[in-house]
Order: sequence, then structure tokens, then C-alpha cells
Amino acid sequence: MRARRMAGLVVVLAIVVGLGAGGGAQAAPLAALADAEVQARVDALLAGLSLEEKIGQLNQAGALPFPGSPKIEDVVSTGGAGSVLWLNDTKKFNELQKIAVEQSPSKIPLLFGLDVIHGYRTIFPVPLAMASSWDPDVPERAQTVAAREARAAGIHWTFGPMVDIARDARWGRIVEGAGEDPFLGAAMAAAQVRGFQGPTFGAEDRLVACAKHFAGYGASDGGRDYDPVYLPETQLRNVYLPPFQAAVKAGVGTFMGAYMDLNNVPASGNSFLLRDVLKGEWGFQGFVVSDARAVANLVTQGFARDGRDAAYRALHAGLDMDMASNTYPQHLAGLVADGTLKAAEIDDAVRRILTIKVRMGLFEHPYTDESLLAKVVASPEHNKEARWAAQRSMVLLRNEGKTLPLSKDLENVAVIGPLADSQDATDGSWLVFGHTSNAVTVLQGIKAKLPNARVEHAPGPEIRREFPSFFEAFMPGPKKAPQTPEEAEAAFQQAVATARAADTVVMVLGESANMAGEAASRASLDLPGRQQELLEAVVALEKPVVLVLLNGRPLAVAWAAEHVPAILEAWEPGSAGGHAVADILFGDVNPGGKLPVTFPRKTGQTPIYYARNLTHSPEGRPMYSQRYWDGAVAPLYPFGFGLSYTTFSIADLKVSAPQVKLGEEVTVTADVANTGSVAGDEVVQLYIHQKAGRDSRPMRELKGFERVTLRPGEKRTVAFRLGPDELRYWSTSAGAWVQDAEAFDVWVGADSTATLSASFTVVP
Ligand code: BGC
Repeated sequence: MRARRMAGLVVVLAIVVGLGAGGGAQAAPLAALADAEVQARVDALLAGLSLEEKIGQLNQAGALPFPGSPKIEDVVSTGGAGSVLWLNDTKKFNELQKIAVEQSPSKIPLLFGLDVIHGYRTIFPVPLAMASSWDPDVPERAQTVAAREARAAGIHWTFGPMVDIARDARWGRIVEGAGEDPFLGAAMAAAQVRGFQGPTFGAEDRLVACAKHFAGYGASDGGRDYDPVYLPETQLRNVYLPPFQAAVKAGVGTFMGAYMDLNNVPASGNSFLLRDVLKGEWGFQGFVVSDARAVANLVTQGFARDGRDAAYRALHAGLDMDMASNTYPQHLAGLVADGTLKAAEIDDAVRRILTIKVRMGLFEHPYTDESLLAKVVASPEHNKEARWAAQRSMVLLRNEGKTLPLSKDLENVAVIGPLADSQDATDGSWLVFGHTSNAVTVLQGIKAKLPNARVEHAPGPEIRREFPSFFEAFMPGPKKAPQTPEEAEAAFQQAVATARAADTVVMVLGESANMAGEAASRASLDLPGRQQELLEAVVALEKPVVLVLLNGRPLAVAWAAEHVPAILEAWEPGSAGGHAVADILFGDVNPGGKLPVTFPRKTGQTPIYYARNLTHSPEGRPMYSQRYWDGAVAPLYPFGFGLSYTTFSIADLKVSAPQVKLGEEVTVTADVANTGSVAGDEVVQLYIHQKAGRDSRPMRELKGFERVTLRPGEKRTVAFRLGPDELRYWSTSAGAWVQDAEAFDVWVGADSTATLSASFTVVP
């Protein structure tokens, strides 16, 4: 053992010395290393580690000074951590790394992880917004910039992309994902992995990505964060898993387990998910980290008897790294000593972590140049990218009488609402620790666009959560006392008076950043606070009113959809968001985003999504169509919906063959033309319905989309291929993936209610 250990260390030292510790242009690009060479290095490292050192690699230590937690320097110097999270300080990264590399027994460098969700210094639209672009280039380019900035700060590993499908807008974390659809979600997941990690794993300006939260987290009962999830295998495999599998196919380095119970087995101790599906069927070679404290929480959740049982069940189920619960360091050695866990199980987990460390070049580049970040974030390109991403992510929901675009000759504009000048709502949910905002608000964006106009602002009554977020404890700065009812009333009157004195009113309403995200579920999807009342009071003034929504989830804005002539869904658009809103409001940019999630009319319609199955009493038949006696069943805005300042026609739908054999492809084509007078983007969407089969299938499923830019009068043919990957599904009846020889309907159009249709049949 001793000899093997020495041999391992000698190999590691040779590698580090040979390539120059701390960087240097001569370092081989790690991705270029053949797998066999990576494995040889990992074998050598592993052979040199004691059991304690191995267990150290499986621990991710939290750097937040929680009461009673050991000093992070002590954990690192004794070899007690393979990774550190919740730190965002380049100097401190280097200090800890020096301790790891020079003082810890194994000398293995630390992997620094942090949540870089939609930007590091330059903030991009929230992921739900980026999915609204229906353009995978948007998240790919955004996460490329995020990775470049974060890596320059010394971060190696981001806990993103979050690829949870969410069909219930009450769930606060809907903001972090790509919405309700597995096909769109898979495209956005793969794009984000490509953006974070780059074309070759281990590039010096990229991050290791982490697909989370595996799996089913978005389907929590009642939309309540962390609540149990019950998903039959057909839903899990057909709807919730495809974005995760897409991340694996895109080469994602790591996965994160979810918190909640999935069918009564917590995701962090779920060997079906981790061993059978992820590491078995999908052949995932990276490692799996728990969610924060999730291993210890197996006890809290009523699954494991105690910490020892929790450590056993998580590791045995395939969870490789313990995030911040200190359960693995406390119990794994004892579990190996008494034979409960096999040493090979520990080795497999350590091997996975070391493989990532070797492949990403951590041994060659353990340190970060402390002057790099300032140079990287100074790039004006990054701001341009953020503005472009925000422009492409916004969705025009209503535009009666061509209210938009507004004229740049306006002289007297009121910009009203609690979010109009809010950097917090503009940046959006989940920024990195210690972020100082430089967001351009909507008010600032409009002022910049109309330098000679009178632009007045009044926020109206403040909005705030009824119950504060657990995370607010971590926010810097003094906490503001709530407005008194009198102060709120005065602010209300002031806002109405400001609107009255203007010729045109832009209302900026929605949710503050802490109203969506983790631990931010809601029981109502109405505009919070007195915003609805304010909107009605301003509309009653009978001026041209435009509503800009800043929010991280669909809101039930049925009144606005009937009474406000123009509505722009701007989401939480990031640091250049105010400019992007103004670019669209004043016609410099024609909006082309589409909803990645259905908007309900009323909260009670949730969960709501387009890809439902038919029933014995299909909607549309007069006697049967009404599912609720107190309101419509149809959503306010369907999945895939979004308007433009121009008009499009989609016609001439063709299917390459009326019949194809099982396993063969059909090609579906349609012509899209810009029939209006300005250039614009249309997202051409293809939906299918399998008309009968071993199982019932959804009445529509998205299976293709393309965002095209067309000049006035320009026409383009868009083509989609439908092959076995698109036509197969997980069948409850068969207990397997199947493709049925059956008839299919196809629709191509501008949203999920498209009417242009054709059909084809798959024959044996
Ligand atoms: C969240 C994860 C996050 C982790 C680390 C948890 O509370 O659920 O999404 O990556 O914290 O910050």
C-alpha cells in the first residue's frame, strides 16, 4: 500500500512539475488527452490515496461561516475537502488552493463551485427568459460569457444549468429552468452545457457545468418548493428526464441530485435515478453532487435512521459528493471498516471526481491570476451580448391598434410602477454572492432612448413578500422597514397623478427578484401588492398605456390582457434589460420571443400545459368542453405564443411521404413569409399527435422549431425531420421505449394552437 501510494504521488508530482504548476502557455489542452491517459493519471492518483484522503475528495465544504462549522482552512489543510462552495473571492481561492496543494496530505487541488446561473458580473436574462428566445444560441452565448467571467474570478464549476421541467407556475424555481416542454428544455439544456463548458472540456475560460436537480423537482405537490413528487415512470421518462439526457449527450461534467422525495424515495438516495438511469442506461461518466445538505436531510426527510444510514444510502445509491452536510466525512470510514460499504464503491466515486479534476486541467492550473477578472469584465462585448440576449428573450403578448412601437418623438412620458427603476427586478433572481448591480432599469433605458423628452417616474406602493425569504438573511445591507398603509396610499396617489400629467404611460409591474427562485413559491399568480389596483386606476385615465412585465414566472394577468392595449413580457432581463426594453418599445428591435410556458387565466388552472392527453369528452364539443363551471379552461396565452411588429404567414405544409416504415424518417416542410412591412423573427413550430397506440399520447407534442429572421416580403422554407427519436416514447403498457406503427397528425405554425395540419402513417 505504502509503495503504491508513493508511486501515485511521484506521478502526480511529475505531471505538476512537468507542466508548470499555476499555469503557463506550455500546458497541454486537457481535453486533448486521450481517455486512456486521463485514466492512467487517475489510477495513479487513486493508488496513492489513503481511505481518509479519498473520503476528503467526496466532501464539498461550505465556506459560509455557519455557527459551529469548522474553519474552512482547517478542513482543507487536513485533506477534508475535495471541493469548496459558497465563496466568491479570488484571493481567498488562491489561499485555500495553496493550502490544498502544499499542505494537505494528498496535495490534490480543490474544485471551487458556485451558482453562476445567468451571468457572473454581466447579468443575462434569467433562464426562463432565455428559453423564450427559442434560440439555443442565446443561452449558449450567455453562458460562454458567464463562464469566461466566473473562471477569471477563480470559479471552476457552476451549479447550472437547472433543467427541471416546470408546469406549475406557483413553483418559484420555474424561473431557473426552460419552462414546461421537454423538447425545448432539452435544446436549452444542451446549449447551456455547450456555453459553460465550451467545445473542448477543460478550456481555461470555461466552467464545468452541473445539470440539476436530478430529477422531477419541478413537479412538487401544489407547486410548493421541496414538497414530495409523485411521477409515474411514463411522465418521468417522457417529460422530466429528456433535458437531463440532453445534458449528458452534450458532455456535462457533473449532475446534482434533487432534494425532494420522488415516489417516496428521496432523489439523493435514489438508486433508480442515479445508478440505473444516469450511470447505467445513459453511461454518465462524470460525478454527482448532492444538493446543499441533502445527505444529512435524508434523516430529516424520514428516510434514513441517522447520519450513518444517510451516508450509506446516498453513496450506495450513487451520490458521489456530499454538499455541505459533513455526513460523508463523519461516517464513510466506519461504513467501509465494518464492511457495510465496499471500498470499491468509494473508489468509484473518487475516481469520477479525480477524472473531472484531471480533465479540466486543475493540476496544471490550480491558481487564478488575481488581475484577470478586471480585464475580462471590462469587455464591452459582454454588455452587447447581454443586451442582445435580452432583446431576443422578450415576448410581445398584446398590441392592440399597433400601440407599439412608440414614437421617439414622444415628449411627455410617465414610467410608473415599483419595478420601473428597480435594479433588483431587472437583474432578476439568483446572482452570485456579493454581486453589485450595474443593471440599467427600464426607466433608465427609456430616458436614454428619449434624451429630449420629459420622462417622469413614480413607483407607486412598494411590493414585498408576505413572509421573508430564508435567503434574505444572507443579503448585505440594512433591511428596509415596510411602508405604512398611509405611505403606500400616498405613493399610489402620486403614481396616478404622475400618469395623469403625461401623454403616454409605461407601467412596469410584476414581481421583485426574491418572489421567484428557491423557497419562493406562491399560492396566487396575481400581480402582488396593489399593482392591479394601480394598473386599473391608470388605465381609467384613458391614455395610451403600455404594460411591461418584469417577472420570473407566468402571472395571471387576465384583466390586463383585456384592458391594456400593449403588453411586453420582459421577464427578468439582466443588466442590459432596461436598454433592451426601450429598444423594443421604441421599435429599434422587433420582438420575436415566444412563451416557453403556458400562461393561466387564473391560479386555479395550474398545473397547466399544452401537451395534455385527450379525454373521453374532448374540448370543443358543446356539452362537454367546460372543465370548470366557474371559468374558462383555455389558458390566457398558449405555449409558444408571441407577437411581432410584423405579420407572418405559414403555409404549404408538406410531408415527404404519406407512409414510412418503423425506424424511417419523414421530412415536414412549410413556407414562412413576412407579410408585413418591417423585418422580424418568427419561430416556426412543429407539433405531432400519435392518434392511437400502445399508450395514449399527448394531443400535441413539440418536435421541432426554428427561429427565422425575414425581411418584409421575404419567404423561406423551413424543414423538420421526424425520425425514431422524435416518434418514440416510454410506454407504460410495454414498460420500455417503443415506436408504434400508427397514424400521426402534424401541425406547423406560430404557437401550440397552430391549425395548419397534415398527416402521415408509420407502418411495420
Ligand atoms: C439549491 C441548489 C444550489 C445549491 C448551492 C441549494 O439550495 O437547491 O440549486 O445549487 O443550494 O448553492
